[in-house]
Amino acid sequence: MKVVHETTTLVLGSGIAGLTFALKASRHGDVLILTKKERTESNTNFAQGGVASVMDPTDRFELHVEDTLRAGAGLCRRRAVESVVREGPDLVRELMELGAQFSRESGGGLALGREGGHSRRRIVHAKDLTGREIERTLLAAVEENPRIRLLENHLALDLWVGPDRGTGRSRCWGATYFIPPTGETGAVRARQTLLATGGGGKVYLYTTNPDIATADGVAMAARIGAPIVNLEFVQFHPTCLYHPDAKSFLISEAVRGEGAVLRNLDGEDFMRGKHELASLAPRDIVAREIDRQMIGRGEKHVLLDVSSIGEKKFRERFPTISKRLREFGIRPGRDPIPVVPAAHYLCGGVGVDLDGRTEVDGLSAAGEVTCSGVHGANRLASNSLLEALVHAERAAAVPPADDPGDAPPPPPAPGTEPPAPDVGVILDHEWDGVRRLLWDYVGLVRTSERLDHAITRLALTRDWSEDLFHRYRPSRDLVELRNIALVGLLLARSARHRRESRGLHYLTDASPPDPSPRETWARLADGEIRVESRDLPA
Ligand code: FAD
Ligand code: SIN
Repeated sequence: MKVVHETTTLVLGSGIAGLTFALKASRHGDVLILTKKERTESNTNFAQGGVASVMDPTDRFELHVEDTLRAGAGLCRRRAVESVVREGPDLVRELMELGAQFSRESGGGLALGREGGHSRRRIVHAKDLTGREIERTLLAAVEENPRIRLLENHLALDLWVGPDRGTGRSRCWGATYFIPPTGETGAVRARQTLLATGGGGKVYLYTTNPDIATADGVAMAARIGAPIVNLEFVQFHPTCLYHPDAKSFLISEAVRGEGAVLRNLDGEDFMRGKHELASLAPRDIVAREIDRQMIGRGEKHVLLDVSSIGEKKFRERFPTISKRLREFGIRPGRDPIPVVPAAHYLCGGVGVDLDGRTEVDGLSAAGEVTCSGVHGANRLASNSLLEALVHAERAAAVPPADDPGDAPPPPPAPGTEPPAPDVGVILDHEWDGVRRLLWDYVGLVRTSERLDHAITRLALTRDWSEDLFHRYRPSRDLVELRNIALVGLLLARSARHRRESRGLHYLTDASPPDPSPRETWARLADGEIRVESRDLPA
């Protein structure tokens, strides 16, 4: 493939992780950001609840660390948690200095919200549009920075790896991309590359995530043999709006933080007695209990009773949710809201160290695409934006290596044959097939038999989509199918490997919990996936 751009730093993705990193890495030289659609299209832009951060003088780092470790069910890397909790607040203040307007109390101090699993009010928010405010602030700073260039509609295809004659090791030389509106392809050569492509909710049939979330970065990293860690831990958000016309609309956990209570259709507060925090228990517990209620009672949803918040306060605190509910004929703050769980967040991902380094020289990663060990077996609410900020900052503090000299050839271009008339139909069918399979067989509640079945079928789609990618001219659907099929397979294989139930991974035929919990590392080599357990790093 032709090398079209050369830069010091290449960033894949324009969410909180990519933009924060780009701003900070620009001190080392020029930065090129590629993003697959419009610049704002990201999970970041949809974040509602806020950023968990110790900002109140009566709160303490130790409490935030303890809450995070408790939610993570024995699988958090303690050092990673401590660094994120301690370094986060300064970065939240930096965001405010850049212009982010977070909600304030009438006295002028930050208004701090509460969410599931937190022992204190510590969620910094901008009403119910926190992510949009952060994205707006970071994009404005990026657009003013003369060292940073951002290219929209540039869908990264593969990472470019090959030998570095200086070190004798393999390194990352950049990435290849495809521009869907024009059909052009090309390669970017860079001294350092950051993967910040976000999560993969679209691997599941029902998700809170926008369409861009097809786990492309996890697939790209897997294809170059990088370890994919703890991918079995998928977080299902308990409260996605249930309505035939509502696509992926989240009802923030902050609504329960303000006093809303989950009830079944008979009005029973079914979380009472299940956990000391009742409706505000950690998400894995709440989502599974909702699932149990729905299956046990044969009902399609449960209800979120918001009557204790009242109409006026609900409208002021949650203006976006209010507006959306009104569009569906639900009177915000008054009527109970029908809700169901939906795939929300990948706790696993590309294995990185505390500075965002992957195993591959020249390749770092930050944000939802990674597994840094902060979230363990279950992420604590609003810890994701925080983690992305801290790891983007830490990764950017490492200067890029000197120019490594002669590069090996970039990866081969995708296929060139015009797609046969049937390909579109087959792509649609396979897209739906992968997402339905993950939802039914690799969802909130798993069995070994269903996982085996999913693995057999996903392996076929993975091989088939890989073959199509190398035969036919690329399309967005084909590129993304190739990625969701591989990530779905890695996810199912990782889930099958863990014999215990822990955190978000719940197996009905589980073995007793491991007294020394270990991480799951999956790796692709010569087309085969190998999965092993590894001790938590010291
Ligand atoms: P993203 O923000 O998703 O950005 C990824 C970027 O990569 C996008 O620009 C995307 O277009 C681009 N990209 C993807 N693939 C490619 C490719 N192949 N080539 C080029 N570009 C690519 N977390 C919290 O902490 N607090 C919250 O309140 C909260 N609320 C949430 C509400 C919703 C509805 C959702 C979906 C998530 C929420 N989360 C929340 C999670 C949080 O928003 C994300 O984990 C976080 O924003 C991830 O940031 P990121 O930069 O890693 O990825
Ligand atoms: C929410 O607002 O409920 C989402 C918070 C999160 O995912 O951390």
